[in-house]
Amino acid sequence: MKELRGKVILVTGGASGIGEAAATQLGEYGASVVVADRNLAGAEKVSAELNSHGVAEAIAVEVEVSDEESVRDLVAAAVDTFGRLDGAINCAGVPPAGQPVFELDLDAFERAYLVNLRGMFLSLKYEIPAIRQAGGGAVVAISSTAAVRGLPFSPEYCATKSGVNGLVRAAAIDCAGSGVRVNGLMPDGTLTPMMLAAIERMPALEDPANMPPIQRWARPEEVASAAVWLVSDQASYVHGATIPIDGARTIF
Ligand SMILES: NC(=O)c1ccc[n+]([C@@H]2O[C@H](COP(=O)([O-])OP(=O)(O)OC[C@H]3O[C@@H](n4cnc5c(N)ncnc54)[C@H](O)[C@@H]3O)[C@@H](O)[C@H]2O)c1
Repeated sequence: MKELRGKVILVTGGASGIGEAAATQLGEYGASVVVADRNLAGAEKVSAELNSHGVAEAIAVEVEVSDEESVRDLVAAAVDTFGRLDGAINCAGVPPAGQPVFELDLDAFERAYLVNLRGMFLSLKYEIPAIRQAGGGAVVAISSTAAVRGLPFSPEYCATKSGVNGLVRAAAIDCAGSGVRVNGLMPDGTLTPMMLAAIERMPALEDPANMPPIQRWARPEEVASAAVWLVSDQASYVHGATIPIDGARTIF
Protein backbone atom coordinates (compact mmCIF):
# COMPACT_ATOMS: atom_id res chain seq x y z
CA MET A 1 0.00 0.00 0.00
CA LYS A 2 2.03 2.94 -1.29
CA GLU A 3 0.03 5.42 0.85
CA LEU A 4 1.83 4.12 3.96
CA ARG A 5 5.39 4.57 2.72
CA GLY A 6 7.17 7.10 4.93
CA LYS A 7 4.33 7.36 7.48
CA VAL A 8 4.96 6.91 11.19
CA ILE A 9 2.39 4.62 12.81
CA LEU A 10 2.14 3.60 16.46
CA VAL A 11 0.65 0.22 17.43
CA THR A 12 -0.35 -0.47 21.03
CA GLY A 13 -0.52 -4.15 21.96
CA GLY A 14 2.00 -4.59 19.16
CA ALA A 15 3.83 -7.52 20.77
CA SER A 16 1.15 -10.11 20.06
CA GLY A 17 -1.90 -11.15 18.09
CA ILE A 18 -3.74 -8.52 16.05
CA GLY A 19 -1.25 -5.77 17.01
CA GLU A 20 1.75 -7.88 15.96
CA ALA A 21 0.07 -8.67 12.63
CA ALA A 22 -0.72 -4.97 12.09
CA ALA A 23 2.85 -3.91 12.91
CA THR A 24 4.19 -6.53 10.51
CA GLN A 25 1.92 -5.40 7.64
CA LEU A 26 2.72 -1.71 8.28
CA GLY A 27 6.44 -2.50 8.08
CA GLU A 28 5.96 -4.43 4.85
CA TYR A 29 4.19 -1.40 3.35
CA GLY A 30 7.10 0.87 4.25
CA ALA A 31 5.77 2.66 7.34
CA SER A 32 8.00 3.42 10.32
CA VAL A 33 6.42 1.51 13.21
CA VAL A 34 6.39 2.19 16.95
CA VAL A 35 5.68 -1.21 18.52
CA ALA A 36 4.30 -0.44 21.98
CA ASP A 37 3.35 -2.99 24.61
CA ARG A 38 3.61 -3.65 28.34
CA ASN A 39 5.55 -6.75 27.23
CA LEU A 40 8.79 -5.00 26.17
CA ALA A 41 10.60 -8.22 25.24
CA GLY A 42 7.72 -9.15 22.92
CA ALA A 43 7.67 -5.67 21.38
CA GLU A 44 11.46 -5.82 20.84
CA LYS A 45 11.11 -9.17 19.07
CA VAL A 46 8.50 -7.73 16.68
CA SER A 47 10.51 -4.56 16.00
CA ALA A 48 13.73 -6.56 15.44
CA GLU A 49 11.89 -8.73 12.91
CA LEU A 50 10.62 -5.58 11.16
CA ASN A 51 14.05 -4.03 11.09
CA SER A 52 15.48 -7.15 9.48
CA HIS A 53 12.80 -7.38 6.74
CA GLY A 54 10.81 -4.15 6.67
CA VAL A 55 11.31 -1.29 4.26
CA ALA A 56 11.42 1.32 7.05
CA GLU A 57 12.52 1.45 10.66
CA ALA A 58 10.77 0.16 13.79
CA ILE A 59 11.29 0.82 17.50
CA ALA A 60 9.94 -0.94 20.58
CA VAL A 61 8.59 1.08 23.52
CA GLU A 62 7.30 -0.24 26.83
CA VAL A 63 3.90 1.18 27.72
CA GLU A 64 1.19 0.60 30.30
CA VAL A 65 -1.85 2.02 28.52
CA SER A 66 -3.82 2.59 31.72
CA ASP A 67 -1.09 4.93 33.01
CA GLU A 68 -1.29 8.54 31.79
CA GLU A 69 2.42 9.32 32.11
CA SER A 70 3.35 6.12 30.32
CA VAL A 71 1.06 6.90 27.34
CA ARG A 72 2.27 10.53 27.21
CA ASP A 73 5.88 9.27 27.18
CA LEU A 74 5.07 6.76 24.45
CA VAL A 75 3.72 9.42 22.09
CA ALA A 76 6.67 11.68 22.93
CA ALA A 77 9.08 8.81 22.16
CA ALA A 78 7.42 8.27 18.76
CA VAL A 79 7.71 11.97 17.86
CA ASP A 80 11.26 12.27 19.28
CA THR A 81 12.45 9.27 17.27
CA PHE A 82 10.74 9.83 13.94
CA GLY A 83 9.92 13.56 14.07
CA ARG A 84 6.17 13.06 13.60
CA LEU A 85 3.21 10.75 14.18
CA ASP A 86 0.78 10.03 11.33
CA GLY A 87 -1.45 7.37 12.81
CA ALA A 88 -2.11 4.80 15.49
CA ILE A 89 -3.73 1.37 15.77
CA ASN A 90 -4.77 0.75 19.36
CA CYS A 91 -4.92 -2.98 20.06
CA ALA A 92 -3.89 -3.25 23.74
CA GLY A 93 -6.66 -5.02 25.61
CA VAL A 94 -7.46 -7.76 28.11
CA PRO A 95 -9.97 -10.59 27.64
CA PRO A 96 -13.02 -11.43 29.76
CA ALA A 97 -12.39 -13.23 33.04
CA GLY A 98 -15.18 -15.71 32.17
CA GLN A 99 -17.64 -15.05 35.02
CA PRO A 100 -21.29 -13.99 34.99
CA VAL A 101 -22.07 -10.51 36.31
CA PHE A 102 -23.25 -11.85 39.68
CA GLU A 103 -19.94 -13.68 40.31
CA LEU A 104 -17.36 -11.36 38.73
CA ASP A 105 -14.85 -9.84 41.17
CA LEU A 106 -14.76 -6.06 41.27
CA ASP A 107 -11.00 -6.30 40.67
CA ALA A 108 -11.58 -8.09 37.34
CA PHE A 109 -14.13 -5.47 36.30
CA GLU A 110 -11.72 -2.66 37.21
CA ARG A 111 -8.82 -4.31 35.37
CA ALA A 112 -10.90 -4.46 32.17
CA TYR A 113 -11.98 -0.86 32.68
CA LEU A 114 -8.38 0.29 33.24
CA VAL A 115 -6.91 -1.36 30.15
CA ASN A 116 -9.76 -1.57 27.63
CA LEU A 117 -11.50 1.75 28.26
CA ARG A 118 -9.26 4.10 30.23
CA GLY A 119 -6.29 2.85 28.16
CA MET A 120 -8.16 3.59 24.92
CA PHE A 121 -9.15 7.05 26.20
CA LEU A 122 -5.54 7.90 27.15
CA SER A 123 -4.23 6.57 23.84
CA LEU A 124 -6.64 8.76 21.83
CA LYS A 125 -6.07 11.74 24.13
CA TYR A 126 -2.31 11.80 23.48
CA GLU A 127 -2.16 10.41 19.93
CA ILE A 128 -4.66 12.80 18.33
CA PRO A 129 -2.83 16.10 19.10
CA ALA A 130 0.46 14.62 17.84
CA ILE A 131 -1.21 13.47 14.62
CA ARG A 132 -2.82 16.92 14.16
CA GLN A 133 0.59 18.47 14.68
CA ALA A 134 1.88 16.34 11.79
CA GLY A 135 -0.87 17.68 9.51
CA GLY A 136 -3.50 14.95 9.97
CA GLY A 137 -3.87 11.19 9.82
CA ALA A 138 -5.96 8.50 11.45
CA VAL A 139 -6.47 6.48 14.62
CA VAL A 140 -8.04 3.04 14.87
CA ALA A 141 -9.54 1.57 18.05
CA ILE A 142 -9.83 -2.21 18.28
CA SER A 143 -13.19 -2.89 19.89
CA SER A 144 -15.06 -6.22 19.63
CA THR A 145 -18.39 -7.68 18.55
CA ALA A 146 -18.91 -7.90 22.34
CA ALA A 147 -19.59 -4.15 22.13
CA VAL A 148 -22.92 -4.89 20.43
CA ARG A 149 -23.70 -8.44 21.67
CA GLY A 150 -24.48 -10.03 24.99
CA LEU A 151 -21.39 -12.25 25.07
CA PRO A 152 -21.90 -14.85 27.84
CA PHE A 153 -19.73 -14.60 30.98
CA SER A 154 -18.20 -11.35 29.80
CA PRO A 155 -19.91 -8.39 31.52
CA GLU A 156 -16.73 -6.35 31.98
CA TYR A 157 -15.62 -7.05 28.41
CA CYS A 158 -19.01 -6.14 26.86
CA ALA A 159 -19.22 -2.97 28.97
CA THR A 160 -15.70 -1.74 28.22
CA LYS A 161 -15.89 -2.54 24.50
CA SER A 162 -19.26 -0.72 24.29
CA GLY A 163 -17.42 2.19 25.88
CA VAL A 164 -14.75 1.98 23.17
CA ASN A 165 -17.46 2.32 20.49
CA GLY A 166 -18.78 5.38 22.33
CA LEU A 167 -15.29 6.89 22.46
CA VAL A 168 -14.90 6.36 18.70
CA ARG A 169 -18.21 8.14 17.98
CA ALA A 170 -17.42 11.04 20.31
CA ALA A 171 -13.81 11.43 19.16
CA ALA A 172 -14.87 11.35 15.50
CA ILE A 173 -17.24 14.26 16.09
CA ASP A 174 -14.67 16.15 18.19
CA CYS A 175 -12.06 15.69 15.43
CA ALA A 176 -14.40 16.61 12.58
CA GLY A 177 -12.65 18.98 10.20
CA SER A 178 -9.30 18.58 11.97
CA GLY A 179 -7.77 16.18 9.46
CA VAL A 180 -7.71 13.32 11.95
CA ARG A 181 -10.01 10.38 11.19
CA VAL A 182 -11.20 8.15 14.04
CA ASN A 183 -12.58 4.66 13.46
CA GLY A 184 -13.02 1.35 15.24
CA LEU A 185 -13.06 -2.32 14.31
CA MET A 186 -15.20 -5.00 15.92
CA PRO A 187 -13.49 -8.36 15.44
CA ASP A 188 -15.20 -11.57 16.49
CA GLY A 189 -13.14 -14.58 17.62
CA THR A 190 -9.62 -14.21 16.21
CA LEU A 191 -6.95 -16.89 16.60
CA THR A 192 -4.50 -14.94 18.76
CA PRO A 193 -2.94 -16.08 22.06
CA MET A 194 -5.93 -14.40 23.83
CA MET A 195 -8.48 -16.48 21.89
CA LEU A 196 -6.45 -19.71 21.93
CA ALA A 197 -6.33 -19.51 25.75
CA ALA A 198 -10.12 -19.03 25.85
CA ILE A 199 -10.66 -22.07 23.58
CA GLU A 200 -8.42 -24.17 25.84
CA ARG A 201 -10.48 -23.08 28.88
CA MET A 202 -13.83 -23.52 27.12
CA PRO A 203 -13.57 -26.12 24.28
CA ALA A 204 -17.35 -25.70 23.67
CA LEU A 205 -16.49 -22.40 21.98
CA GLU A 206 -15.59 -24.49 18.92
CA ASP A 207 -19.05 -26.10 18.66
CA PRO A 208 -20.54 -25.14 15.28
CA ALA A 209 -23.46 -23.44 17.08
CA ASN A 210 -21.01 -21.10 18.85
CA MET A 211 -19.08 -20.14 15.72
CA PRO A 212 -19.98 -17.13 13.57
CA PRO A 213 -21.96 -17.99 10.40
CA ILE A 214 -18.75 -18.14 8.35
CA GLN A 215 -17.94 -21.24 10.49
CA ARG A 216 -14.35 -20.43 11.36
CA TRP A 217 -12.43 -17.96 13.48
CA ALA A 218 -10.50 -15.08 11.93
CA ARG A 219 -6.75 -15.13 11.49
CA PRO A 220 -5.00 -12.12 13.12
CA GLU A 221 -3.86 -10.98 9.67
CA GLU A 222 -7.47 -10.73 8.49
CA VAL A 223 -8.31 -8.22 11.23
CA ALA A 224 -4.97 -6.42 10.95
CA SER A 225 -5.40 -5.77 7.21
CA ALA A 226 -8.66 -3.89 7.90
CA ALA A 227 -6.92 -1.80 10.58
CA VAL A 228 -4.01 -1.04 8.25
CA TRP A 229 -6.45 0.03 5.52
CA LEU A 230 -8.32 2.28 7.99
CA VAL A 231 -5.14 4.01 9.15
CA SER A 232 -4.04 4.60 5.54
CA ASP A 233 -5.18 7.35 3.18
CA GLN A 234 -7.04 4.70 1.15
CA ALA A 235 -9.80 5.03 3.78
CA SER A 236 -9.82 8.82 3.46
CA TYR A 237 -13.63 9.18 3.66
CA VAL A 238 -14.17 6.67 6.48
CA HIS A 239 -14.65 8.57 9.74
CA GLY A 240 -16.63 7.63 12.88
CA ALA A 241 -17.25 4.03 11.78
CA THR A 242 -17.08 0.90 13.95
CA ILE A 243 -16.78 -1.84 11.36
CA PRO A 244 -17.52 -5.51 12.15
CA ILE A 245 -14.84 -7.96 11.00
CA ASP A 246 -16.88 -10.86 12.21
CA GLY A 247 -17.78 -13.56 9.65
CA ALA A 248 -21.41 -12.28 9.81
CA ARG A 249 -21.70 -12.73 13.61
CA THR A 250 -23.50 -9.44 14.22
CA ILE A 251 -26.05 -9.77 11.40
CA PHE A 252 -27.11 -13.28 12.41
N1 LIG B 1 -8.66 -12.39 19.76
C1 LIG B 1 -9.97 -12.18 19.71
O1 LIG B 1 -10.77 -13.11 19.55
C2 LIG B 1 -10.50 -10.77 19.80
C3 LIG B 1 -11.84 -10.54 19.43
C4 LIG B 1 -12.35 -9.26 19.50
C5 LIG B 1 -11.56 -8.21 19.93
N2 LIG B 1 -10.27 -8.46 20.30
C6 LIG B 1 -9.48 -7.31 20.77
O2 LIG B 1 -8.33 -7.19 19.96
C7 LIG B 1 -7.28 -6.56 20.71
C8 LIG B 1 -6.00 -7.38 20.56
O3 LIG B 1 -6.22 -8.65 21.14
P1 LIG B 1 -5.42 -9.97 20.72
O4 LIG B 1 -6.44 -11.03 20.53
O5 LIG B 1 -4.46 -9.66 19.66
O6 LIG B 1 -4.72 -10.27 22.11
P2 LIG B 1 -3.22 -10.60 22.54
O7 LIG B 1 -3.32 -11.01 23.96
O8 LIG B 1 -2.58 -11.52 21.54
O9 LIG B 1 -2.52 -9.17 22.43
C9 LIG B 1 -2.83 -8.13 23.29
C10 LIG B 1 -1.56 -7.35 23.55
O10 LIG B 1 -1.91 -6.23 24.37
C11 LIG B 1 -0.90 -6.09 25.36
N3 LIG B 1 -1.46 -5.42 26.53
C12 LIG B 1 -2.42 -5.91 27.36
N4 LIG B 1 -2.65 -5.03 28.34
C13 LIG B 1 -1.82 -3.98 28.15
C14 LIG B 1 -1.59 -2.77 28.86
N5 LIG B 1 -2.24 -2.50 29.98
N6 LIG B 1 -0.68 -1.89 28.37
C15 LIG B 1 0.02 -2.19 27.24
N7 LIG B 1 -0.14 -3.34 26.54
C16 LIG B 1 -1.06 -4.22 26.99
C17 LIG B 1 -0.47 -7.51 25.68
O11 LIG B 1 0.81 -7.57 26.31
C18 LIG B 1 -0.50 -8.16 24.30
O12 LIG B 1 0.74 -8.06 23.65
C19 LIG B 1 -7.79 -6.47 22.15
O13 LIG B 1 -8.26 -5.18 22.40
C20 LIG B 1 -8.94 -7.47 22.18
O14 LIG B 1 -9.92 -7.14 23.14
C21 LIG B 1 -9.72 -9.71 20.23
